[in-house]
Amino acid sequence: MAFDVAAVRAQFPILTGDGPVPRLHYLDNGATAQIPRAVLDAMAAHETTARANVHRSVHRLAEAATRAYEGARESVARFVGAQASQVVFTSGTTSAINLVAHAFGARLGPGDEVLISTLEHHSNIVPWQLLRDRNGIVLKALPATTDGRMDLDRLDDLVTERTRLIALTHAANVTGAVTDVARVVTAARAAGAEVLLDGAQMVPHGPLDVPALGVGFYCFSGHKMFGPNGIGVLWGRSDLLESMPPFMGGGEMIAHVSLEQTSYAAPPMRFEAGTPPITPAIGLAAAADWLSAQDLAGAETHLKNLTAQLIDGLSGMQGVSLVGPAGTQARMPVVSFTMDPLHPHDVAQILDSHGVAVRGGHHCAQPYMDSRDIAGTVRASLALYNDADDVEALLRGLREVRALL
Ligand code: ALA
Repeated sequence: MAFDVAAVRAQFPILTGDGPVPRLHYLDNGATAQIPRAVLDAMAAHETTARANVHRSVHRLAEAATRAYEGARESVARFVGAQASQVVFTSGTTSAINLVAHAFGARLGPGDEVLISTLEHHSNIVPWQLLRDRNGIVLKALPATTDGRMDLDRLDDLVTERTRLIALTHAANVTGAVTDVARVVTAARAAGAEVLLDGAQMVPHGPLDVPALGVGFYCFSGHKMFGPNGIGVLWGRSDLLESMPPFMGGGEMIAHVSLEQTSYAAPPMRFEAGTPPITPAIGLAAAADWLSAQDLAGAETHLKNLTAQLIDGLSGMQGVSLVGPAGTQARMPVVSFTMDPLHPHDVAQILDSHGVAVRGGHHCAQPYMDSRDIAGTVRASLALYNDADDVEALLRGLREVRALL
C-alpha cells in the first residue's frame, strides 16, 4: 500500500489549514519539525493528572510524575536500542555535546586531539574550541568533498595515536549527507579513540540501534523529531558515563553532600542536576512512540521521491546551484542551494510570501560556508508529512523569484 501522507498530515494541527495558520508548505523541518496531536495530548494529560517534581516528594502526584519521567526514559531508550541507564535527558543536542566536552573533556590535556569536520553545526565546533582553550587540546577538522560529504579519505592522515575523540555529525544539516559511521569507527578503534555522533538530523527518520553503531556517544533533540523543544538526549556507553565526572552540580545528581565534599549519583542522574524537563521528556517519549508506529519504510521511499523531485526541479533552473550531493543515495531529505545573485535570506523571505517556509542563511555552519566561499544557502528540509504539492510550491515560488530578476 502506498504511503498515506494525507493521513500523517492530518495528525498535525498546525498543518491542516483549519486553525489560525493557513495551509502552509512547511519545509524547515531541519530547524524544527511540527508536533502531532498524540504528543500534545500526552503532555496535556501529564500536566493535568500528574504534575509534580520527580525523585523528591512521596505524595501520590510526585510518585506518578517519577513513574512517568522514568517511563519516558525507558521509551526513549527503546527507540535507540539502549538501556535506560544510558539515556541522559538534556535540553537538546547542544547541551548534550557541551556535557561531553566538559565531562569527557576533563580527562584530556595538552597534545590530546579531537577531530571534527568542516560540515559540523556550530554546536559540534564551539564546545571543542572552548575545551581547546581550557585544556590545550589540539582540534583538527576533516575537510568536505565538493559534493558536500565528509572527506573520509583524510581519516588516515588526520587520525593519530593522540586522537582521543572523533566528533562528527551523523547527517549534515546543510547538505543532508549521511556519514559512513562504520568507516569512522574503524579508524577510531585503530587509534584507541572514542566517537561522538550528532544525530539531530538523523533521528527524526526513525528508531536506531545506537549501541550497534560502535560509537561512545550519540546526541539528539526532541524538537526535530516531532517532540517538544527544551529536551534532548545524550546516549553514552555505560563505561564512559560511569567514568565521567558531573558537568553541572545541584539537586538529585548526588549520593551525599556535606559542606566539605560530595559523592555523586550513578548515571544517568549524575548528569541531570536540578529539576529536569519532565513534561518535555514525556513529550519526547510520546514522539518516539508515535514515530516508531509510522510506516517508516513507506516514509523513506516517499521522501526519496520528493527529494528526487526537488533536485530535478532545481537542476534546470537558471542561477541555481545545488550545495550537497546531487543524488538521493546516502543522504537525508535535506536540499541546499544558492540562487545567484540573490542572498539566501531574500529568497527565503520571498518564498514566505508564497506560503513556503524554508531556512536561508549559514544554518549555524559558517566554517562549511567559508570553505565554499558562499554566505549561505536556501535549505529545504523535508519530513514525512510533506507532499509533492509542497515541493511544487517551492519550485513555483523560485520560478516566480527568477521572473522578477
Ligand atoms: N540545527 C538546526 C538547523 O540546522 C537549527 O536548522
